[in-house]
This record gives sequence, C-alpha cells and structure tokens, in this order.
Amino acid sequence: MEYHKPVLFNEVIENIISDKKAIYVDCTLGGGGHSEGILEKSSDDSKVIGIDQDIEAIDFTKRKLEKYGDKLKIFQDNFKNIDSVVYFAGYSKVDRILMDIGVSSNQLDNKERGFSYKYEAKLDMRMNKELSISAYDIVNTFSEKEITDIIYKYGEEPKSRKIAKNIVEYRKNKKIETTLELSNIIIKSIGKSMKKHPSKRAFQAIRIYVNRELEVLEETLDKAVNLLNKGGKLLVITFHSLEDRIVKEKFRKYENPCICPPEIPICICKKKSLGKVITKKAIIAGKEELQFNNRAHSAKLRIFERS
Ligand SMILES: C[S@@+](CC[C@H](N)C(=O)[O-])C[C@H]1O[C@@H](n2cnc3c(N)ncnc32)[C@H](O)[C@@H]1O
Repeated sequence: MEYHKPVLFNEVIENIISDKKAIYVDCTLGGGGHSEGILEKSSDDSKVIGIDQDIEAIDFTKRKLEKYGDKLKIFQDNFKNIDSVVYFAGYSKVDRILMDIGVSSNQLDNKERGFSYKYEAKLDMRMNKELSISAYDIVNTFSEKEITDIIYKYGEEPKSRKIAKNIVEYRKNKKIETTLELSNIIIKSIGKSMKKHPSKRAFQAIRIYVNRELEVLEETLDKAVNLLNKGGKLLVITFHSLEDRIVKEKFRKYENPCICPPEIPICICKKKSLGKVITKKAIIAGKEELQFNNRAHSAKLRIFERS
C-alpha cells in the first residue's frame, strides 16, 4: 500500500522552489512526497528541514529519503514548535515553509490507528501516540454537552446534539471501544440519507479536538510568518473549511494588519504589513489530479510572501 500520495504536488513545487540556495521547512513530512520533490528540484547547497509528530511517518520517510544525506534534517515534533526546531537545525530564518495539514492516507487507512469509520479498530485518533486524550476518552468520559460542542464546533454537524445524546445513552450499558461501534451510533442518530458518509463530520470533529488541530494551526502560522526571510514564502494546504478560513483570515491580517477605524483618515495603529497574499483565490487541484487522487477534491493551497 502506498504511504501517501501528495496533493497539489506540481503546484507546490512550482511555487516553492527558489532559484537560489534556500532553507526549506516541510512542517508535515508525512510520507515525504513533497519533501522529495523539493530535495530533487532545489539547488545542491539548499537544505530541507522535515517535521512530523508521528513516529511512524518519521521512520518511514527517514528510510525513503536516506539518499539525500545531510541535505535533509528530520525532527519528530509538533510543528507548533517550528521556531525551536529551526533553531536546533542551526538557523534563525528560513526561505520557504510548507504545511500540508491534517492526516496522511497512511494514518487514515492504517486500521490500528483508529482514525477511520471505514475499518473496525480501537478508537484512538492521536497523531502523536503520547498525547494524553484519545477519541476513546472523549466518547466515554466527556459530558453530553462537551461532546455536542465538539461535534458542532469542529465538524459543523447540525445533528450534534442527537449524536451526543445517543453516545451518552449507549455508554450507560457498555463502553464505546471501536470506530465502527461509534460510527453505528452516529448512523442510528442521523440516518443514512446524506451524500457523504454520515460519520464523516463527527469523526473529523473528534480528530481535530484530540490533536488540537485548529489551535495549533493558528499558533504555527504566526510563528512561521515571522521566521521567513524577506522574499520568503509560506505555503499552506488545507482540507476543510474550518482550516481554510483560519489560513485566509491570518494571511489577510498579515498583509493588512491595520486596526484603525475606517473613519480615521490616517493610520495611527502603525501596524506594518508583513508582505502579500500571492493567491487571491486558493489554488485547487486540476481535473487530471482529481482522477487519481481522491483526497485532492477538498485540498486548497494558499501562499503568502514576506516583504
Ligand atoms: C497530509 S500529511 C502530509 C503528507 C506529505 N506532504 C507527503 O507528501 O507525504 C500530514 C502529516 O502531517 C503530520 N501532522 C499533522 N499535524 C501535525 C502537527 N501539528 N505537527 C507535526 N506534524 C503534524 C501528520 O502526522 C501527517 O503525517
């Protein structure tokens, strides 16, 4: 089984490769697809720093990209620590940062990781197995109100209340141990009539909560934009509207941080623009990619350039 097919590969490579020596950071190394492209196309004296919080991704990609020697430095860490990782790699600023966020196909399709409603597995969903709270803890110990809020906020699931009520009802008799047990409770709660799998939103919500994905994204974007040299670029690929909204809004603020009320004729807040948004509209996958990479359907790439 292929570890992970990188999305928007050509679009990332076209926009990320510098014609000069450059320091690249791949915050989401995963199966190393994007990093391999960068290693191949960048100048020999460039360096790539690869980060992933998942030890399985690190082990796989270390072996896969071994031939690039010390052009690639790999760190197992949460990308929210990008500033300290860059420092430990020996740099204070970098030229390109890539974030291809969310989960890899390997994490989704590996039954033991307990991410997917398609396979029977122990409920888990932690990208980093050292995290203290797993999906199992949420559905078996959180209150009905907490579960409702998580499923609504991070899954935008209109029937979150009903799902939470049925989760709490079910666990009175028995713990919810597996992905399919949870998925069946969701299906019973909201029916099967939707176009998408009925469990998609609730599973996404629980995964986002377990891994604190949105908070970490916000924190990391702020650090990343400040780590870039003049002319440096930040490229972010998102897979759902909650993430994309954060990236779009952050980029807008980096370009125009002024908070003066519009009726004031001159700026008094003195907040300076950090650069410009290169992608007024997000880059999405073309027809060809959509034919062979299902994950590309929801992928959006946005790019910010530092001044
Ligand atoms: C969509 S995959 C990246 C795939 C990669 N671009 C490739 O070409 O194979 C996302 C990866 O980012 C990692 N990841 C997600 N959130 C992370 C975080 N906060 N810190 C570090 N790694 C993270 C996941 O473990 C996963 O391996």
